[in-house]
Amino acid sequence: MKVLSCVVGLGLLVMLCGGDTSTDKSPTEKCELLHENKSERKILDELAPLLNKNFSVMKKENEESYTYVFQFCGDADGVPGAGVVQINDKTKAKTIVGRYNSTKAIKGSDWVMLIYENGAKYNSHCNGANRKAIVMISCDRSTDTGPLDVVLEDRERVECFYLFEMDTNIVCPVIESKLSAGSIILIVGVCLVAAYLIGGFLYQRLIVGAKGMDQIPHYAFWAEIGNLAADGCDFVCRSKNREEPNAYRGVGSEPADEEPEERDDHLLPM
Ligand SMILES: *[C@@H]1O[C@H](CO)[C@@H](O)[C@H](O)[C@H]1NC(C)=O
Ligand SMILES: *[C@@H]1O[C@H](CO)[C@@H](O)[C@H](O)[C@H]1NC(C)=O
Repeated sequence: MKVLSCVVGLGLLVMLCGGDTSTDKSPTEKCELLHENKSERKILDELAPLLNKNFSVMKKENEESYTYVFQFCGDADGVPGAGVVQINDKTKAKTIVGRYNSTKAIKGSDWVMLIYENGAKYNSHCNGANRKAIVMISCDRSTDTGPLDVVLEDRERVECFYLFEMDTNIVCPVIESKLSAGSIILIVGVCLVAAYLIGGFLYQRLIVGAKGMDQIPHYAFWAEIGNLAADGCDFVCRSKNREEPNAYRGVGSEPADEEPEERDDHLLPM
């Protein structure tokens, strides 16, 4: 029963330690979600370490070469409103692939899919729809933020999008408990000792009917252990010989008055 309550207490402790801290102001408010909601906003906020950085990648496509620049909730390559921008390396013409005022975010166990919609319209492809950028951000514990990579621009589909990939440790699942294994073992140990002491005490008192020191469970055993430990410590830790102080007793001030008398008591004729 005590063990059970200990486990419950432990659970409460873990819950307290793992409590989340939520603030009202979002660091990613520049990103407007297509449908503002708490869960998507939370995903964006978790990506906050990516803020204020341009990520770019160059991609050759037939004769042309393009550079793509991605910025999280900010003007990519300085183009107002653009989350992802495509730059034609020859003509330097910039095309907005997706805008951060039209954001969606989806989170998996170790990845986040960031979608910027409402980019510039396609001319002939994709039914003249707006361009759309999908940035796949995946967990990689070995890197803060890896390089941006562009996977494909598939124009033959019904729904077109530009797909980018990036590795980062930001989206890696957090280790659930904030208590280290050592402290958990310690807490469990303390719980067990407490259960032993309380349970043993109750057993000795109520069932055996012990009084005084005997109420301590296995009192004789622990007393013996205590003596052994004390002896061991005495032997190991004491630097001077234990008998030494006695040798000077006679010289000391206080005991000098009484002890000699006691000592030669036996010499007196009775
Ligand atoms: C991103 O790049 C553009 C163009 O080079 C620059 O104007 C802007 O300040 C950069 N933003 C950040 C946060 O580095
Ligand atoms: C995003 O910004 C663009 C350009 O300012 C605007 O045309 C578009 O309507 C905006 N979209 C949303 C969802 O606010």
